[in-house]
Amino acid sequence: MLSLSPYKHVIRSQQFTFDYIEELFDLTDFMKKNEFDVSSHLKNRIVAMLFYEPSTRTRLSFEAAAIRLGASKITTENAKEFSSISKGETLEDTINIVQSYADYIILRHFEDNSSEIAANISSKPVINAGSGKGQHPTQALLDVYTIQENFKRLDNLKIGVVGDLLRGRTVESLVYLLSKFNNNKFYFISPDNSKIKDGIKKYLLENKIDFIESNNLEENMSDFDVLYMTRVQKERFENIREYESAKIILSQKNIKLLNQKSIIMHPLPRVDEISIQIDQDSRSKYFEQARNGLYVRMAVLSIIERNKK
Ligand code: CP
Repeated sequence: MLSLSPYKHVIRSQQFTFDYIEELFDLTDFMKKNEFDVSSHLKNRIVAMLFYEPSTRTRLSFEAAAIRLGASKITTENAKEFSSISKGETLEDTINIVQSYADYIILRHFEDNSSEIAANISSKPVINAGSGKGQHPTQALLDVYTIQENFKRLDNLKIGVVGDLLRGRTVESLVYLLSKFNNNKFYFISPDNSKIKDGIKKYLLENKIDFIESNNLEENMSDFDVLYMTRVQKERFENIREYESAKIILSQKNIKLLNQKSIIMHPLPRVDEISIQIDQDSRSKYFEQARNGLYVRMAVLSIIERNKK
């Protein structure tokens, strides 16, 4: 039976309890201050990195986290081409083998339910590093950590979520995580061909969490505390013309409408949805957000290790 405890596997953001989030963020603060002095936390451990889809931030920050914590890593970059899946091996068989070589499995995979499949089989902790159009739970943790750092609270927030809300997995994980806190309101801004998933809307309605949908970025912009931009997921479109019509771009002109105390976030990579001139704006936090990924992932690994003992 699959463990829903984030102290064992990290699969989806609905798993995270308030106790876990508090402990994790305290440990993240600690990692940030003691980055070079924590190499005993995962000493003699081996972390396997199985990446079936491209990644820069998630893969390299998990690798850096493992190294900072004193672990070694084994890795299959571009696993779709260079691992035995290309010969027809199933994910189940791959996980069965990798769990006998490594103490942790970090998995990025193109199937939405890949991490559940892996965790069901693995005796070793599985951490979802992005699963198809499904979830990216450690991204949500680092997003929420960054929001907490900037606002010193995680409730009473107005969050504008912009872009490809149908295919992006970071949005799903972020919305489920922020929904745990009180009185947050979501503004989902997307073209008609990329609207927020019905399953998320159903969850928000059932839990009486306020949200509105729009295709106009500027409409409620002055209300936002957080403007969370996302990339249009080109690789998940079948029709390139549909992809071109799915873009919403944040310009220097429209950020004038944004409150001075608000912040601009993006899970990255960006393509052209935020112009590089906006990087100089003090409200732009996306590089800080990506940097926080290292410390949050150090804490995610360390907390599991601590709870093994
Ligand atoms: N945000 C994110 O998951 O980035 P990568 O695809 O580069 O890992």
